[in-house]
Amino acid sequence: MRVALGVSGGVAAYKAAELVRRLQQEGIDVQVVMTRSAQEFITPLTFAALTGQKVITEMFGNESGAANVQSAIEHIAVAQRIDLLVVAPATANVIAKMARGIADDFLTTLYLATTAHVVVAPAMNVNMWEHTATQENIEALRARGVHVVPPEEGYLACGMTGAGRLASVEAIAKAVCGQLGIRHDLENETVLVTAGPTCEDVDPVRYLTNRSSGKMGYALAEAASRRGARVVLISGPARLDPPQGVEFVSVRSAQQMHRAVLEHLSRATAVIMAAAVADYRPVAPQVKKMKRGNGRVTLELESTPDILADIARGKGDRIIVGFAAETDHVAEHARAKLESKQADMIVANDVTAEGAGFDHDTNIITLYSRDGSEKAFPRMPKIDAAHRILDRVLELRRAGRQLPAAQPAR
Ligand code: PMT
Repeated sequence: MRVALGVSGGVAAYKAAELVRRLQQEGIDVQVVMTRSAQEFITPLTFAALTGQKVITEMFGNESGAANVQSAIEHIAVAQRIDLLVVAPATANVIAKMARGIADDFLTTLYLATTAHVVVAPAMNVNMWEHTATQENIEALRARGVHVVPPEEGYLACGMTGAGRLASVEAIAKAVCGQLGIRHDLENETVLVTAGPTCEDVDPVRYLTNRSSGKMGYALAEAASRRGARVVLISGPARLDPPQGVEFVSVRSAQQMHRAVLEHLSRATAVIMAAAVADYRPVAPQVKKMKRGNGRVTLELESTPDILADIARGKGDRIIVGFAAETDHVAEHARAKLESKQADMIVANDVTAEGAGFDHDTNIITLYSRDGSEKAFPRMPKIDAAHRILDRVLELRRAGRQLPAAQPAR
């Protein structure tokens, strides 16, 4: 989904930065367009850093500021590319121009040029908001199908109290998602996600681990949460902030992850094991630091519990998804894991492929299901890959798998 976020000049312009983040969490690609007066309140650099895209500030301007027809044509192509235009905050002036069809800057031109959905979130002084002129303009926009997210009542930056404060980021995001048909289709699910590596201690200063960053599992937790699921994220050591709204359980070793998964399993309606769990751990971790000697050292290892295989036994209607991190014969190994682990689906990734697997922001996945189906996806951001995996979980649910009886949250 592509959204153009029009930012016009008001104190609430800073909240547009938060809105960018919130929309990105829904997997939406955001192109920011700023009016000149918006730039008095917040710099284009802030939005460029958040979106990784050039912010459109002028109709004809290029980077050196010179007039440029090519740039105007490129800009206007945005009108065809977007699925939705949201103007937040929308000042009385921008609303008036939109209502009257005045196109004297990029934002108002975009409004006329696009056939995409339009959402407007006004923010202004209470008297300006209540003025007949503004109310008539708002009604004109509504009559044209524009979705208006009304301002909230409260203390305003101008010192007055009343209606005029920009609606909450959540309310605006909800309106955008509603218009785009992004549904909270996992509302009935409780998804348990594992992420990151595990660390198996050799002694108090050394341990065995792997290259997992946790990015894939955290993306799954975030995507599931955004789609309305209750999410329990059980993570090995990772340098990432847990997504907002998820229940976070931090573990270190495979043994601890096993225990945590079993502890939270009864509540889960779906389990997605993205963690790179150590297959072996030292048989006898040392209590004191092992001293250096001259000879060879042999480290005796034993198998860790196979968490996935363990929970897949007697899973009932719970949907169980495993990952397969492979370096060769990906399809063959993935299908073998589907069988040996008795999972409903295996997400295979070739961790030697460019832009896939450990620590990348992108992944290349193929989904293998027990019905024999197999679906390959091109390289995409991990958050998008997460959504594709969740789409398939939902398909499995709709294909007849009943929801396990809901267990109350702890
Ligand atoms: O964390 P990132 O940097 O974003 O990298 C993502 C990833 C490469 C870690 C991820 O995409 C991935 O492939 N995760 C699974 C890694 C793995 O351990 O694969 P495996 O083929 O060794 O294990 C198969 C499945 O069994 C996995 O779901 C694993 O979680 C599970 N397992 C493995 C061992 C064990 N003792 N218990 C398990 O449950």
